[in-house]
This record gives sequence, C-alpha cells and structure tokens, in this order.
Amino acid sequence: MTSVGIDAVEIRTGKLRLDLPETFAPAQGDDPGKYTKGLGLTASSFPDVYEDIVTMGANAAHALMERKGLEPEDIGRIDVATESAFDNSKPVSTYIAGCLEQVYDGDFHHANKGERKFACISGTQSLDDAYNWIRAGRNRGRAALVIATDTALYARDDPGEATQGAGAVALLVTEDPDVVELSTEQGYGSADETDFLKPQQQFPSVDGKRSVQVYLSRMREAIEDFESVTEPIHPDDFAFIPFHTPFPGMVRKAAALGYRHASRDTEIEERLADEIGRQPRYEAFDSEEAFREAAADYTDDLTDTDLYREWYAETVEPTLTISREVGNWYTGSVHVARISALKAAAEDGVDLAGEKLLVGSYGSGAQAEIHAETVQSGWEDEIAALDVDEQLDARYELTFDEYEDVHDVHNHDEDAGASDTDQFTAPEQEFVFDGWGRMGERKYIYVE
Ligand code: COA
Repeated sequence: MTSVGIDAVEIRTGKLRLDLPETFAPAQGDDPGKYTKGLGLTASSFPDVYEDIVTMGANAAHALMERKGLEPEDIGRIDVATESAFDNSKPVSTYIAGCLEQVYDGDFHHANKGERKFACISGTQSLDDAYNWIRAGRNRGRAALVIATDTALYARDDPGEATQGAGAVALLVTEDPDVVELSTEQGYGSADETDFLKPQQQFPSVDGKRSVQVYLSRMREAIEDFESVTEPIHPDDFAFIPFHTPFPGMVRKAAALGYRHASRDTEIEERLADEIGRQPRYEAFDSEEAFREAAADYTDDLTDTDLYREWYAETVEPTLTISREVGNWYTGSVHVARISALKAAAEDGVDLAGEKLLVGSYGSGAQAEIHAETVQSGWEDEIAALDVDEQLDARYELTFDEYEDVHDVHNHDEDAGASDTDQFTAPEQEFVFDGWGRMGERKYIYVE
C-alpha cells in the first residue's frame, strides 16, 4: 500500500510578541500565575500591520517550496484551513496561490484549491483530504500543499483574550514522505455543540468552561472510536502525543483523561493499585454524578504519581514548548504541537525513525479526531531545516498600549486600518498586505 503522509513542514509566526505574565496580566489586574501555571502560556504572537492569514500562509508555503526545490507544477492541490477567513466566497487558497505566482515563473492553474472550515480541526481535515486524494491515485505524482493559518483574536476582555495567537503552518503531503506516515485508521468523536462559534462575526462567542468539557468528551469518543478499528491503545505505545493546544493547560487535562483511559485494565493500573487504588468502574456507582466525582478524584491522584509524571514529561510536555510562546493558532495548533515534539527529540539526539505518534485534533462545534503517525527516516533533516527559534526570538515586544493598537488594526469593525498605525517591524523577502482593490479584495505584494 502506498505510504502517504507529511513530507515537510514550515511555520510562520506573527512577528509581534505580547508577554502575558509581564505585560498583559498586570494590565488586566490578573495574577501572572494564571498565565504561566494555569493556562501554561508565556506569550502570544500577533501579526504586524502588514501581516494577515494570507501573508503568513503564503510565506510559510513559499519557504517550504524553496527548501524542497518545488515549482508550482509540482503541486496538484492547495487546501487552506482557517477560521479567520475574510470572504464567504473566494477561498484564501486562491490569494495564497496568487502570492506565490508573483515569485515563480509557473502557475497553479491546474491545482485544485479549497478552504476548509470546522473550527480548529479543519487543518487535520485538510490533511485528510490530501491523504485521500493521493491514496485514491488522483494526484498524478504531484504533492498537496496544506496550509493552516489563523489570527486567533478574541474580543477585548473576553476570557479567551488570554489565549490569543497568530501564525501559519504549511504541510507538504506526498507519497513516501520524509517526516511522518499517516495511519489509515482514524477515530472520530463528533456532536452538535455550541461551545464556540462565530455567527457572521469576527470574534468568537465562547462558552469557555463548556468548551473545555466538550473538548474532553469528544476526545474520549474519538479515542474509543479509534480503538474500535485498532488494538486498545497503551500509554507507552507512542513516543509523543500531540494534542490540539488552545493553551497548554487544556492539554494537561486531555492527557490525564487519555492516560486514565489507556491504562485501564493494564499493568499500569495494577502497579498503581497500592498507591492510589483501582480506577472507578461505572457499573459500581448508583449515579452518573457519583461516578464522575470518583473518576475526577482518581485522575487527580493519578496525575500526582511518579509514573504519570514521567510519562507526561516524556510524551506530552515536549509538544507544548512552541505553544507556550505563541498562544493558540487554531487550525495550526495541533501541527505546531507535532513540530514542537519532533524538534525536542532532535535537540535531545533521540532516534525517532519508526516510532509512533498519536495525534489528537479538536475543533469546537464540535469534533475530535485521533490517528496515529509513524516517524520516517528523513524526519531529522526536515526538522533541522526549520528556523522556529530564530523567528520566535526576532519578534517585536509589544507594550500594552501597542497591543491595544494592534488589536484594533486587525479588528474588522474598527476604522483604524493599517494606514493609521505604523508597522513595528520591517518586511524583508516576504509577502505583505498592500491595501484593498476595487471589489473589496485584499491585495498583496512581495517585498524584496
Ligand atoms: N496560579 C495558578 N493557576 C491559576 C491562577 C494562579 N494565580 N489563577 C488561575 N489559575 C488556573 C485556574 O485554576 C485554571 O486552571 P484549571 O482549569 O486547571 O482549574 C486556569 O488557571 C485558568 O483560570 P480560569 O480562572 O479558569 O480562567 P478563565 O475563567 O479566564 O478562563 C478559559 C479560561 C480557558 C475558559 C478561557 O481562556 C477561554 O474561554 N478560552 C477560549 C476557549 C478555549 O480555548 N477553549 C478550549 C477548548 S478549544
């Protein structure tokens, strides 16, 4: 069977940085510990005034094509996943193709372009579409470009404001990939939920606490569905478990739930029985509420054990390093978690080839998806080619007043517009926003 998966990755972060404990917390009257310890975030990335979902996506795609020596005719498909689109008809992928055509001799006229929407999970769904297209034999030897790009902004003073972020991830999907091969097996957990939505509005309406619960419920369903087509999963089967990361504190909860589920009826539950007892079984309780309470108590005890802490430190913690510095990238966030883990392994000199990842994606509204990935022998060279640290270090540090201006610049309802606020950084060899055209379209140019 043809091996299909991710051949190369690139990321582009928004070029501005807001320090959460130092700058945002005091201005909001919050304890910095809420950010560093509770949410697990140090900073948010924001787009400069000339950046948006198109520039970040096009710049990531351009870097990826240059590195892999690709021309437009090598790409048969461009799928953009976003929940920050500014047009209900014309897809962002056409804008990105238009940008790239400014710098290549060829064009993307024979590439299929689309835009996927399902909150944060649409990045993984686009990956799926690319995978299926190649496995169906419709790609004519060409690769698919999947771009997850978002400016995850919330209304000022919404609780979600603490978790904002902006950036893009570009993934090249091919046969015989260099980074990871995707499993055929998948699990879904999907239900009609109103935890987070944007009914014809830029900033989301969020029921934050509920969204955390919905994430966990759908993720549990997805794990069970995945296990219905594979063997039961065991916590030690996977080198890393990248989850959708709206903020690292969310992943802390998801990991605990996943570990409890996967260690049930295993030697792990046996080993821990003397220390914390056995897992509560639903059948042993009179009410759902009593069971939930006992399960929550057991989970608290479980996460305090050395066995769990070591597993978490090895398998989950390394997936969160970049996220802590950039905040939520919505559709790109689970793909940032994968990059973060592989980067940590490369830095530690771990030979990951042949090892498995379990990837847990989630989008509000709501759907979770679980699949496995097998790391390929070319992973290390691909990860070594990334300049993530340089990009993060080069960001401009915002004051709170500047942050307020930047938020206004990117707020579609504010008249401020890019022209009234000076750019904070100087663009170089990249696509930038260049104003509006006569039909209200956004225009872009490449700056040498
Ligand atoms: N020191 C240590 N921890 C602290 C703290 C402090 N000084 N102050 C707060 N915390 C902890 C809280 O206990 C909580 O952790 P817990 O959930 O494990 O108990 C965490 O920090 C967040 O604090 P909380 O008061 O719950 O924050 P909030 O009411 O502002 O809302 C969200 C948090 C996640 C609901 C909010 O950021 C949000 O709406 N986000 C957008 C939606 C989202 O991302 N949903 C996730 C699923 S996609």
